[in-house]
Amino acid sequence: MRDVVVAIDGPAGTGKSSVSRGLARALRARYLDTGAMYRLVTLGVLRAEVDLADAAAVAGVDVPISVGYDPDEDRAYLADEDVSALIRGDEVTRAVSAVSAVPAVRTRLVELQRELASGSGSVVVEGRDIGTVVLPDADVKIFLTASAETRARRRNDQNVAAGLPDDYDGVLADVRRRDHLDSTRAVSPLRAAEDALVVDTSEMTEAEVVAHLLDLVHESSGAMR
Ligand code: DC
Repeated sequence: MRDVVVAIDGPAGTGKSSVSRGLARALRARYLDTGAMYRLVTLGVLRAEVDLADAAAVAGVDVPISVGYDPDEDRAYLADEDVSALIRGDEVTRAVSAVSAVPAVRTRLVELQRELASGSGSVVVEGRDIGTVVLPDADVKIFLTASAETRARRRNDQNVAAGLPDDYDGVLADVRRRDHLDSTRAVSPLRAAEDALVVDTSEMTEAEVVAHLLDLVHESSGAMR
């Protein structure tokens, strides 16, 4: 099979990250987690102690970020410091929406993402705006969805496993609130590209989704030959 560029978008709770990694592994492709890049910038902004509501100040923070390409390793660096675990923490998770809504931050990261996705070999790029903004010419565009209830159940299960309180109703309300914010924000709202293949993962296991995506990639690359 020739090299393919696969864009995978969708909201949190669709299993996007696990299946993107699984697909990259199956294709022996590089894997680029663009959410990790927004999280890295957010950590840099928090450390600089600028006001998150001040878009110009947020945009002015100069953060030397880098991420790995290996789907089996979650590696993210601020300068030379490995902050892979820190960027998944609560503090970054709470602040990342504000930072990722700053247009100048998005412009800078989109440019970097295009650079990182180019080069030889196949690549799976995961995010919110990959098929619409970052790589509109990707060979295969996938948009993962799942019902709000399924996403809330998955997140609540993860919370419980991590020792947090069992609060399905609270998580569901938060999922709905974030869906609304993400799909109505002015810059790069979350939406499927017109030519994206929409896959509803509500009733599928992770392995089933990966197998399905692999079929879709093979079908599309057959059509590309
Ligand atoms: O996928 P994630 O939860 O790690 O993403 C972190 C945040 O970054 C999330 O609030 C959405 C945002 N994001 C974005 O705006 N654009 C992307 N391409 C990827 C993530």
